[in-house]
Amino acid sequence: MTKISIEQGAPEQSYSWLRPFLPKKLQPYLRGIRKFWQLRSLKLDEPYKTIFPYTQVSQMRQQNLIRLSMIVNENRINGALVECGVLDGGTAALMAYTAKETSRSIHLFDAWEGLPESTEEDGVAGKKWVGEVVGSPKRVAEIMTKLSISSEKIFIHRGWFEDTFPNVSISEIALLHIDCDFYSPTTLCLSRWYPHISPGGYIQFDDYSAFQGCKQAVDEFLNIHPEIELQVFGTIGQGEAYFIQKPFIDN
Ligand SMILES: C[S@@+](CC[C@H](N)C(=O)[O-])C[C@H]1O[C@@H](n2cnc3c(N)ncnc32)[C@H](O)[C@@H]1O
Repeated sequence: MTKISIEQGAPEQSYSWLRPFLPKKLQPYLRGIRKFWQLRSLKLDEPYKTIFPYTQVSQMRQQNLIRLSMIVNENRINGALVECGVLDGGTAALMAYTAKETSRSIHLFDAWEGLPESTEEDGVAGKKWVGEVVGSPKRVAEIMTKLSISSEKIFIHRGWFEDTFPNVSISEIALLHIDCDFYSPTTLCLSRWYPHISPGGYIQFDDYSAFQGCKQAVDEFLNIHPEIELQVFGTIGQGEAYFIQKPFIDN
């Protein structure tokens, strides 16, 4: 197993002084406006340009999600595309975009209530994020429409993972994107969905180098699965992507 040492806690909050004064429901729209202005000074190709105001995920991680989606298509790995932690739908739309010509279904899980309570594993730094990061299912529908993604392929499971996961069965998963920041939901995603990842399928972790609780959850998982190697795409320190591939022959 690759040992990766990263110093972390949780990311700094932008406009932290302003947050107590703003209704949480406005967050998705304010984030969208801020990112729309940032976009004016960036040169991005499609579909990255269209999804930019709808995601918090780094460019390198976006590229790797598309890369992995294309690999599972080329290698004919069976199964759905699943995202746990959707926010405004940016990375979900990227995954759906690469599956346009396939029969894959897209399952999206989020409570859209901001981040849940943190636990000890998330550290003091994690606490300030509780109740923050509020997304909008309306904006998810908006970005899917912008990218002409058929709503018939998209299954939205709204609610806390602990409530929705037991009621949803997905027999085979080709690619799972775990983007829920904290220890407890990351652990839950791995225990619920890893058994359903098809051999050769992938899981990308958005927060491995950002949130200490996510890193701990992934490291604990890797410790009980020594046959799996944590892989890195991109330059470390520049929004690199962390992911694993389920071995073709299960040990
Ligand atoms: C960082 S955001 C996801 C970012 C998104 N993938 C993007 O493209 O920007 C994290 C999301 O995880 C969701 N989340 C975290 N823990 C959860 C849980 N236990 N149940 C449901 N949703 C959860 C939050 O509601 C939030 O929308």
